Amino acid sequence: MKIILDVDPGIDDAMAIALALKTKGVQLLGLTTVGGNLPLNKTTDNAAKILKLLGANCKVYPGMAGPLIRELHTAEQIHGPTGLGYLDLPAAQEYIGNKHGVDFIIDEINNNPHEVTLIAVGPLTNVANAIKKDKSVIDKVKEIIIMGGAVYTGGNVTPAAEFNIYVDPESAQIVFNSGANITLVGLDVTLQALLTEEHIEILKEKGGKIGQAIGSMTDFYLERYKDHNKLKGCALHDPLAVGVALDKSLVKTQKVFVAVETKGEFTRGETLGDVHGRFGKEPNINVCIEVDEKRFINSFMETLTS
Ligand code: BDR
Ligand code: CA
Repeated sequence: MKIILDVDPGIDDAMAIALALKTKGVQLLGLTTVGGNLPLNKTTDNAAKILKLLGANCKVYPGMAGPLIRELHTAEQIHGPTGLGYLDLPAAQEYIGNKHGVDFIIDEINNNPHEVTLIAVGPLTNVANAIKKDKSVIDKVKEIIIMGGAVYTGGNVTPAAEFNIYVDPESAQIVFNSGANITLVGLDVTLQALLTEEHIEILKEKGGKIGQAIGSMTDFYLERYKDHNKLKGCALHDPLAVGVALDKSLVKTQKVFVAVETKGEFTRGETLGDVHGRFGKEPNINVCIEVDEKRFINSFMETLTS
């Protein structure tokens, strides 16, 4: 299975990269980075460091630094000043490729028509720019799995909006309306995929250097989660998008038209699911509405401790 992961590491992004790289049968063509949780230079350095830690044989290609028309809004309060919590890794410049991330996406999809699964777990700026630059990718990409949105639940930045869509709603609107085969893995399901302290202890004990690294990141992430969300664990948002790309049977989906709010005073980045067809528009997104969280967490733990 050929995958491109579009990321903004970010602690859960780093875990998503680890999950993809450790899963048998996955061919990670490369990572592309976007400004999101942190500015682009940091998300790129972090992605490169994680690739090096995992001994990957692919590179990271830096993409867009900020949203289509807005200022970048970052999330250091959740991921820490470096973006990787308490994890401190050596620089890995040799893992940074010298092609623009948007061109990497376009070229790989054109070179492997109908074979590439594009998993986007940051703001959708790179994906929107790829579509704007070469419309043919819409039909040539196998599918696009997006971690983003909160269709039936509240948001995590505002009551209305989830972070990735909040940061660049105009890009999200372009991608959602593109006609590509899209599955949305939003807070509706990711807030059920929680990694607890017990899981983290097991990862540190049995997961070798990757488990230790995940432990250093999630110790930090868990503290922020307790303050911010009052949940009993930290959400595996981005890893769940990888999980869904690998195994659709983990989730139940519903195809509806999803509108993205770009103009609202309080609702910027809201993802509005038109369940009853009030807008009279063709359904455009497979929205994940239920997840088998036990099966997902078990397979996450198994992959990262084996
Ligand atoms: C999303 O926002 C980011 O902070 C995470 O990396 C994830 O992609 C969750 O809302
Ligand atoms: Ca992310």
